[in-house]
Amino acid sequence: LCNLMSATNNNLLPQHVSIIMDGNGRWAKQRGKERTEGHIEGVESVRACTEYAAERGIKYLSLFAFSEENWGRPQEEVEALMSLMVKCISAETPTFTKNNIRFVVLGNLERLSEGLRTEIADCMALTAGNTGLTLILFLSYSGKWDIVQAANRVLASNGGEGEITMEQLEAALCTRAAAIPDPDLLIRTSGEMRISNYMLWQSAYTEYYFTDILWPDFRKNEFKAALEDYAKRERRYGKV
Ligand code: FPP
Repeated sequence: LCNLMSATNNNLLPQHVSIIMDGNGRWAKQRGKERTEGHIEGVESVRACTEYAAERGIKYLSLFAFSEENWGRPQEEVEALMSLMVKCISAETPTFTKNNIRFVVLGNLERLSEGLRTEIADCMALTAGNTGLTLILFLSYSGKWDIVQAANRVLASNGGEGEITMEQLEAALCTRAAAIPDPDLLIRTSGEMRISNYMLWQSAYTEYYFTDILWPDFRKNEFKAALEDYAKRERRYGKV
């Protein structure tokens, strides 16, 4: 039975799972708390999902933590989110080391504060040689930004000569440049059914999974349910 299943179903376990973590604000509001409280509780879900991904042997877990559009939120919330990132990254670095987790941050990092950039660079350098789960945080990221930066990279390397090929552009996307494969499964929490300018190019053949659960409530059992749903799907990549 096992052989039969793997012959007809090539995707029992996704190699790369990505999550649009949505609903922190609503989670807080439902409890009469500040939005920031929702983000703080969301960090617990990040921890639970990272642990579970490692336990299941998933190779890449990526999280959409802050979009380029999120810069437009009230300054107070942006600052709270940024200081939460700094705190978390420095607090979690020893855990990454202990659990063989490689930490990668992708996005338009020029917009981040000096302090956060230093924290990120240190954590990435320290964990670069780890061979277990790769945990990717998308920060100040947008799919359109990614495509444009890729095109500019190719133009620069071509010296402005000739046409850009699909292969060149794809290789210059920030994920590919960091040797991270396209996501197999993309989860979005909180009932919203949008891609919201996330990995636009990379998700061309990604399986989507939407759940009404708010991000702070998305833990091991919810992650497990998403993986079970994914395992039932048949991916055809436009073929029959
Ligand atoms: C979406 O909820 C969540 C975010 C914009 C931020 C996600 C960030 C975290 C969970 C903290 C991550 C920290 C680390 C270190 C990974 P929302 O605010 O859009 O909620 P709403 O749609 O209910 O308003």
